[in-house]
Amino acid sequence: MNNNLQKILIIDYGSQYTQLIARRIRELEVFCLVYPYHKITNKLLKDINPSAFILSGGPKSVLDKNSPKLNELILNKNKPILAICFGMQLITKNLKGKVKKAINREYGHTLINIKKKSAIFKGINKNRFKVWMSHGDNISKIPVSFSITSLSDSEIISSIEDIKNKIYCLQFHPEVYHTDYGLKIINNFLFNIVKIKTRFRLKKFTETKILELKNQLKDKKIICGLSGGVDSTVTAYLLDKAVNKNLFCIFVDHGLLRKYESKDVSKIFKKKFGSNFIKVDASKLFLERLKNIYHPEKKRKIIGKTFIEVFEKEAKKITNVKFLGQGTLYPDVIESIPFFGGPTAKIKSHHNVGGLPKKMKLKVVEPLRELFKDEVREVGRNLKINKYLLLRHPFPGPGLAIRIPGIIDKKKISILKEADYIFINYLKEKKLYNKIWQAFVVLLPIKSVGVMGDERTYSYVASLRAITSVDGMTADFYMFNNKQLKEISSLLINNVKGINRVLYDFTSKPPGTIEWE
Ligand code: XMP
Repeated sequence: MNNNLQKILIIDYGSQYTQLIARRIRELEVFCLVYPYHKITNKLLKDINPSAFILSGGPKSVLDKNSPKLNELILNKNKPILAICFGMQLITKNLKGKVKKAINREYGHTLINIKKKSAIFKGINKNRFKVWMSHGDNISKIPVSFSITSLSDSEIISSIEDIKNKIYCLQFHPEVYHTDYGLKIINNFLFNIVKIKTRFRLKKFTETKILELKNQLKDKKIICGLSGGVDSTVTAYLLDKAVNKNLFCIFVDHGLLRKYESKDVSKIFKKKFGSNFIKVDASKLFLERLKNIYHPEKKRKIIGKTFIEVFEKEAKKITNVKFLGQGTLYPDVIESIPFFGGPTAKIKSHHNVGGLPKKMKLKVVEPLRELFKDEVREVGRNLKINKYLLLRHPFPGPGLAIRIPGIIDKKKISILKEADYIFINYLKEKKLYNKIWQAFVVLLPIKSVGVMGDERTYSYVASLRAITSVDGMTADFYMFNNKQLKEISSLLINNVKGINRVLYDFTSKPPGTIEWE
């Protein structure tokens, strides 16, 4: 990482929007890092040397005894601060203002009225606009050095500032897309208040990263698990630029991929990496081990373990390997404080090619660990990676196994492959594919009675899943219109032997998850 790059430090108090703050800042080509509030130490601040701080929102109330506290180190650094929602209340409380429980909490779209000209609202030529609120406490008395810059329609304080100390507090969430001028407000903070000069540009990142990798890897061999997903693909292409013939890519086909996927992906990689691309067909072994396995977590564990076994066995055939390349992204690195469920609540044990074992005693190289998914795609575009690979919807490591709730078998896999293929092709044909973040079919473990022609049918039920999302952490179901639903349903029933009923999954995340298992 370029040491001259100015950095914004985002302090996470557990808001579901913390990563969104980071993404919005990156959209403005400014580098930022996220750390949980309890990890802020003098050493960390010295290491990062941030140009400014952003305090996130959070689910707790500053009125509760056990709520997160403000680390006073932040106030002593004389750096600009943008404090959002819970962050604003923390600042208020610490600087001897008053916070009280709201009689009517503000949630969702709210109108605010500008009361005083402020650098944070510069360039917004409306005095009244819509913002996104989500708070149960209000500021009832502002700290002495502050002034009020806006009030909501219900006369609740929606922003305050201390110009002298460059502390700007917002009760609403500028990072949420529903806030009008949200990006403008963040832009004002970064460029008019903090006066950021350096830019984090992905083209430059790509060039610098290749040089960095060249220096690090020199003429040593590196292996990389390649799944055909965006993260492992971009990792491999970057590594290829750095070490070329010393990169070995292993593609494990577990038999749970989509129709034609193994063939299509292999063809592209074979062309790119030649004999350094190694494909292992382990579908038989995976299916054997998954036989009669019913529980989602058991399935996930078996797939993860078998994957590692197969990968290790193949990797051992390549001699003198020193490094292991992995497609870890920034969201996996951030120790975000989980909003839904406690810190230890484990929803699913994720498996991906990034989770290869420590015992392989290889030095791990993670060239994408500072980036978000959309940034990885941009790096991919810089590397001229095939669009088919770059724009594909995310696909889970355990593949179709977690899209067939309960016991899986060859027949079910083949029905699901066909149904998924037809559904996805429909979305592509109707130009809906890129509007949807992820779409797939789930094959339910129940059969229902139907009639086709004059014949009774007794076949499986399929459920469609299509969601919109920013990062997969929260999601909304996509709203197809009646005509589209009818068309998809007939396409599936008429063309997939084994399905006679189609449902649509109207569940957001939370409370649902994207995958069914
Ligand atoms: P959930 O179902 O947890 O999924 O809402 C969120 C996103 O993660 C993907 N997913 C996985 N990706 N390994 C992966 O690489 C996994 O084990 C895994 N499980 C879920 C899922 O497809 C969605 O995009």
